[in-house]
Amino acid sequence: MNGMSVMDKKIFMSRSLPGTALEMLKKTFSCVEVNPHDKTLSRDEFVRCAKDKDGLVVCLSDKIDKEMFDALPNLKGIANYAVGYNNIDINEAKKRGIPVSNTPDVLTDTTAELAMALMLSVSRRIVESDSYLRDGKWKQWSPAMLLGTDLAHKTLGIIGAGRIGTAVGRMSSGFNMNIIYHNRKTRSVELENKYNAKYVDLDTLLKESDFISINTPLNNSTNHMITEAEIRKMKNTAIIINTARGQVIKESDLVKCLNEKVIAGAGLDVFEFEPQVTEDLCKMPNVVLTPHIGSGTVETRTKMSIMCATNLIAMMKGEKAPNSVY
Ligand code: DGY
Repeated sequence: MNGMSVMDKKIFMSRSLPGTALEMLKKTFSCVEVNPHDKTLSRDEFVRCAKDKDGLVVCLSDKIDKEMFDALPNLKGIANYAVGYNNIDINEAKKRGIPVSNTPDVLTDTTAELAMALMLSVSRRIVESDSYLRDGKWKQWSPAMLLGTDLAHKTLGIIGAGRIGTAVGRMSSGFNMNIIYHNRKTRSVELENKYNAKYVDLDTLLKESDFISINTPLNNSTNHMITEAEIRKMKNTAIIINTARGQVIKESDLVKCLNEKVIAGAGLDVFEFEPQVTEDLCKMPNVVLTPHIGSGTVETRTKMSIMCATNLIAMMKGEKAPNSVY
């Protein structure tokens, strides 16, 4: 330590956040700067704003890699405004002794609710039906109009049985779905004991599921976990939902398989090259797309904001952040 007081630490927030993070940080630190624009900063802009800062609040669209760490010599802590922290090179942070925190728990139900919303939207053709009505196409009630498919008594395969995957299991059990799941590391006692879920290997999950929900973090072992080969193992009536990270699915393979009707549909909140989305997906009526809004409710984004500020304040005091990722 160079004798610098906590108050003297300089903070940069890469985006203005809902909730009280800014207020909390301003009460603790004399210098708190915030990106004034409602947009992700380019790397150069980011470095310009952050190079003299001790602490950062960043978002999933800010890539903090080795080169970025090199450009930020004063850095002493990063609070990530997300539960997933694949945007930060954690090994590099560890090497340099820079603590990193995330925002677990508070967004679990919110993200699981979005997975359910996508599942229902695709299976009951909600977006398509809404357009049909607004476009003035609804002239009369018809027995076979816009028929969808039930969730009840269908098999949901959950890939990744962490907090969010488990919440998806809890919610879908309320819809009378049968649950199977696959997790690389540990079994989920909660999923098995409370929701009667059965642990299966990935191949079995792909073959037996009517709906597949991706809830795994992105890391080396989950990057492109779902490619054409895996999709071809699924039922041709299967619907795939991704609220985790876009890179878990090879997007070009998914598009190819949807075009060839290898599976029936998809509900996607995340994309391999977001905010870019493969154009073909936007033309498919059996696909529902949302712009990475998994944690996007007022309640949750407010809690995430408080969590980030609390974590950063602890890190700047030299304490372990309550939500430290290592
Ligand atoms: C997260 O927290 O990782 C989510 O993807 C943000 O919405």
